[in-house]
Amino acid sequence: MDGIDWGNLGFGYLKTGVNVRSYWRNGRWEPLEVTGDENITIHMAATCLHYGQEAFEGLKAFRGKDGKVRIFRADENAKRMIRSAEYLRMQAPDEELFIDAVKTVVSRNEEFIPPYGTGASLYIRPLLIGTGAQVGVKPADEYMFLVFVTPVGPYYKSGFNPIRVIIDREHDRAAPHGTGHVKVGGNYAASLLSGDWGYGQGYSSVMYLDAKEKKYIDECGAANFYGIRDGAYITPKSSSVLPSITNMSLRRLAADMGLRVEERPVDVAELATFEEAGSCGTAAVISPVGSVYDPDSGVTYTFGDSTHAGPWSVKLYEALRGIQYGEREDPYGWNIVL
Ligand code: PLP
Ligand code: COI
Repeated sequence: MDGIDWGNLGFGYLKTGVNVRSYWRNGRWEPLEVTGDENITIHMAATCLHYGQEAFEGLKAFRGKDGKVRIFRADENAKRMIRSAEYLRMQAPDEELFIDAVKTVVSRNEEFIPPYGTGASLYIRPLLIGTGAQVGVKPADEYMFLVFVTPVGPYYKSGFNPIRVIIDREHDRAAPHGTGHVKVGGNYAASLLSGDWGYGQGYSSVMYLDAKEKKYIDECGAANFYGIRDGAYITPKSSSVLPSITNMSLRRLAADMGLRVEERPVDVAELATFEEAGSCGTAAVISPVGSVYDPDSGVTYTFGDSTHAGPWSVKLYEALRGIQYGEREDPYGWNIVL
C-alpha cells in the first residue's frame, strides 16, 4: 500500500480496507459479512455498554520470506475467546467461524500486510460484544462478532531494547477468582489508571503482583513475564494471569533449546536472582525487561547489563520470529499458511 512507512509503524490503528462481522440472532450465527464501514450501530441498552459483556483477541499475520502470509496459532485464540465468552455468559463463535473470519479479513486486506523485512506485521483484532438490550443484569440474547486488522510495528518504542518496569502495589488489574485469566475489556479498563501511574514516573510498563498476598509476580502490563536463571525459563503460574499464547510457544521453544521450563508461583524476591527477564505477548513479542523497580523497598532489580537483551532472550526471539516469518521450519504446525 503506497504511503505507509512500514519500517516506522508504531502500535496503533490505521484504517484498512474491510472488516468482517457475524451476528448471533435467533439462536444462530448469521453468515459472515464483509464491510468497509468502520462504525457499528448498536442499541443504547446493549449489555456490552452497561455490563461489560465484551471479549477480544489479538493475533498476527506475517508476510514471510517466501512471500506467503502466515497467521500464528489462530486456533489457540479461538479457544481462548470461547473461554472468555463462557465466563461472561456470552455466545461465542466456534473455532471454525473464528478461523474463517480471521482468514477472510486477512486475505481481503492483503495490501495492508507489511512487506517482509520491515519488522512490521498485521495485527488482527477479533471482538465479541453483547448487543442485545437488557436493563437487568443478565446476558444479552444477541451478539456481534467482528474482526478488523491493522498494520503494526513494535508495541514499545524501544523495540527489542530492554524496558524499565515499576511494580504497582497500589492497584490490582484482576483478582484471584476474577477475570484475569480471560481476555475481557474490563481487565484493561481496570489497568488504565495503573498504567498512567507507571508512565507518569517514566516507566514503560507496570508489573502486577498477585492481588491477595502481593508476594508473587503476575504480569507485566498487557504481557506475561519470564525470567531466566541457571538454564531455566521461569514464568508465573497464577489464576489471575492471562494464559499467553506467546508464552506457551516460548515454553515449547525453550524446552526444545534445552532450557528447563518452570511454570509456578514466582516470588518477587526471585527478581534478584534472574540473569535475564522479559515480557511476552502478541503485541510485545519479546520485550526484554532491563530493570524492575519496587517502590516498597526502593530496590531496583537489574538483569544482565540492562541495556541489551540477554542471550537466551535473543535466541527465543529469533526462533519465534523465524517461525512466524517463514525463515525457519514450523515443526509444531503453528502457522496457518494462506
Ligand atoms: N497478558 C495480557 C494481560 C494480555 O493482554 C496479553 C495479550 O494478549 C498477553 C498477556 C499475551 O498474550 P498472547 O501471547 O496470547 O498475546
Ligand atoms: C496483545 O495482543 O499482546 C495485547 O496485549 C494487546 C494489547 C494492546 C491489549
